Amino acid sequence: MIAPIRKAVFPVAGLGTRFLPATKAMPKEMLTVVDKPVIQHVVDEARAAGIEHFIFVTGRNKSVIEDHFDRQIELEQALKERGKTEELEALEAGLPGPGQTSFTRQQAPLGLGHAVWCARDLVGNEPFALLLPDVLVQSSGNTCLAQLMDIYNTSGGNVIAVEEVPENMTHQYGVVDIESGEGSSQKVKGMIEKPAPGTAPSNLIIMGRYLLQPEIFNILEAQERGTGGEIQITDAMIALLESQPFTAAKYEGKSFDCGSKAGFLAANIAFALTRPDLRPALLQEIQKLS
Ligand code: G1P
Repeated sequence: MIAPIRKAVFPVAGLGTRFLPATKAMPKEMLTVVDKPVIQHVVDEARAAGIEHFIFVTGRNKSVIEDHFDRQIELEQALKERGKTEELEALEAGLPGPGQTSFTRQQAPLGLGHAVWCARDLVGNEPFALLLPDVLVQSSGNTCLAQLMDIYNTSGGNVIAVEEVPENMTHQYGVVDIESGEGSSQKVKGMIEKPAPGTAPSNLIIMGRYLLQPEIFNILEAQERGTGGEIQITDAMIALLESQPFTAAKYEGKSFDCGSKAGFLAANIAFALTRPDLRPALLQEIQKLS
């Protein structure tokens, strides 16, 4: 039997140094893409894929994320009194239910693998989703995580979202080596985190969405350091690949690396252009710029 995936982990402890001074007092995950914080876009994606419990691995200065996913009674009251039903509904739609969120702290920036390991007790002994909030995916049909879930529901094991990039960019990412064949999902043969330029086994990079089995925590327990001296999730996945299958999913959709300024700005424009209330005015503004 394939165990259902109910929980998702969101590593949100990063300092956001690339966005200073904006992120001096505000977490980078609270930067807005159109009118929602980046982290809410990612939580919404997880919810649309059927996730019921949202686990945030935070750090110091991140408590506003916890506030964002709680009620704001005074605000709700004021909106109600003023008859602002649409705004009220928007607040309600983004809110996880009582007991559906958990928060833990990473304490020290020891890497993505370490952040995930910090969630081990909250996840427990069941498969889980991992979503990196630096990556936003815009898709015309099912969300990226929902597409991974569809694959998982027939394949089981571990599933990771992958995307083709130009060869000269592979050194910035985790890269997978897959068995040859056509189709949108392939068996993974190997993986490597940030390979030296010119040494990547393929041009398929790991793009921030994972469905993982709980055995990954036993491997992360060893706290082995990899690329950049950090505890890497990719290294733990390489070890897990010896005993469990991994499927690489070439998902339908366009990804934005919101960890970079250009990617973040592009996400704002792309997401705004899908909004009927914003598209015409935004197109006019863009035209004025050229
Ligand atoms: C992380 C992962 C990497 C993945 C990337 C996607 O790297 O370690 O495997 O390809 O996210 O954005 P980071 O961007 O945190 O350096």
